[in-house]
Amino acid sequence: MNVLLTGGAGYIGSHTALELLRAGHDVVIADDFSNSSESSVRAIEKETGKKVRLYACDVSDALKCKMIFEENKFDAVIHFAGYKAVGESVAKPLMYFRNNFLSAIAVLESMLEHGVNLFVFSSSATVYGTCQDMPLVESSSLGVTSPYGRTKLVIEQMCEDVCKANPDFKAVMLRYFNPIGADASLAVGENPKGIPNNLMPYLCKVASGELDHLSVFGKDYDTPDGTCIRDFIHISDLASGHMAAVEKSGSLPKGISCFNLGTGKGTSVDELVSIFNSVNGNKVKFVYAGRRPGDVPVSYADVSKANEVLGWKASHSLEDACATAYAYQMKCSEGRH
Ligand code: UFG
Repeated sequence: MNVLLTGGAGYIGSHTALELLRAGHDVVIADDFSNSSESSVRAIEKETGKKVRLYACDVSDALKCKMIFEENKFDAVIHFAGYKAVGESVAKPLMYFRNNFLSAIAVLESMLEHGVNLFVFSSSATVYGTCQDMPLVESSSLGVTSPYGRTKLVIEQMCEDVCKANPDFKAVMLRYFNPIGADASLAVGENPKGIPNNLMPYLCKVASGELDHLSVFGKDYDTPDGTCIRDFIHISDLASGHMAAVEKSGSLPKGISCFNLGTGKGTSVDELVSIFNSVNGNKVKFVYAGRRPGDVPVSYADVSKANEVLGWKASHSLEDACATAYAYQMKCSEGRH
């Protein structure tokens, strides 16, 4: 299949590109490099020995987006492009609405115009809002806890309407839990610009000496060790989930389908820190700090739907995720100095 990956140079997009290319699919990437770099695309090409057609543009620019569809024939689009920092979205909601909504609309319009009928969307467990019934199933109640989360939920709803109006259209919502780690080749990985918001990149930068210590946000949650619980999933598993969605799309019903992509197992922040330390042989310095506003205490997935319908299951360990995340961080640090 020939698949367009918007935001394909980013953390999740680049791993999905690797997975698709390794399986023999063709990939076209459109990315404005606002939170990624062209070097990821070159690394993907080097690792797979395959050429990737690259458009360095912002797909929320409808004219540029249309041009990509005029120059290629796609079987599917995986739409990763979008801003993703929860805290930033609270401070700059309109920036998030403009970018995330306009890019989704431009891509969907171009797809309809060119008869491309499979849209896979980078959704998030954040669409479950404050739902406390664990594990989260696709039919759990939905809600919004940040402007970023609102963009994910509203784009899901937009897809539902687009499907109703276009009976041949299929939209697959992949609700990610907490992706961590890097591809075993270390060709690509996660190395956010600036101070990381998320736990794993923060841990890596403390371990590499770039940051002094980790603050664990909250030790007084109603969980066994008092820290938050998340469903951390290896990025290579998340990438293979996208491939399963594309490859199994023929057997999906027309209209919208939603899938949780997680491991089905909750791990606390304290547990992840200790796995990280045991695997990487270093003692990450950490302190317990107050709760971070907006954090839900516990979030983990029921993954039986993806398992049954897509034939997909996470298989990599958290040890592997911690080892590859840190190894990639060290590779980047060495490259810089
Ligand atoms: N944490 C710390 N210290 C840090 C960073 C994080 O203790 O420096 C804790 C958080 O408080 C939370 C856990 O680690 O308890 C995980 O936090 P992340 O920021 O790594 O991930 P979140 O679960 O907050 O966010 C993820 C995705 C979002 C998505 C959200 C809800 O990054 O895109 O899940 O589904 F919106």
